Amino acid sequence: MSCDETVDCGRRRLLVATAAAGGVAGVAAAVPFVASMLPSERAKAAGAPVEVDISKLAPGQMMTVEWRGKPVWIINRTKEMLDSMAKISDQLADPKSEKNMQPEYAKNATRSIKPEILVAVGICTHLGCSPTDKFKTGAESGIDPNWPGGFLCPCHGSTFDLAGRVYKSKPAPDNLEIPPHMYLGDAKIVIGEDKKA
Ligand code: FES
Repeated sequence: MSCDETVDCGRRRLLVATAAAGGVAGVAAAVPFVASMLPSERAKAAGAPVEVDISKLAPGQMMTVEWRGKPVWIINRTKEMLDSMAKISDQLADPKSEKNMQPEYAKNATRSIKPEILVAVGICTHLGCSPTDKFKTGAESGIDPNWPGGFLCPCHGSTFDLAGRVYKSKPAPDNLEIPPHMYLGDAKIVIGEDKKA
């Protein structure tokens, strides 16, 4: 797939501005409009759901969108990635995601609605740094010769797998949070809402 303005193939990551992603409530669509809002309306817009088009997100790629001021990662996991996740349960602190860090519909082996698509808040559950994607595997990752791909928090070294599950004996106490979300068709996700209006 070719690189364009929505997917940065070099870094496999791109912050897609809320307005560009077409927030459901038209967040920040026009400055004068926002300026004329009442405070309560502004607060509502800041927490509004965000609609994201993932049609250009190829297998193995990741994009980042902003929701409620937080980075939310969307990753299109390959079959190899999914297979690797299934083999490391004994290395994870909460492999079955039994703690309350995800909605019920994401309380499964892949922590997702569709197995290949992960939607997770990209904020470390230790002290709030943003982990870095480390999708290269093995020695090439610079983490561990057996590294299967995942995320590394640069602040205190917590590591997470490709479902945002934290490894054992790391500073982060919990898996990454899965936000409420739902699909509008095959290639559109709404983040911040999980029921059809
Ligand atoms: S903030 Fe991530 S390990 Fe401390």
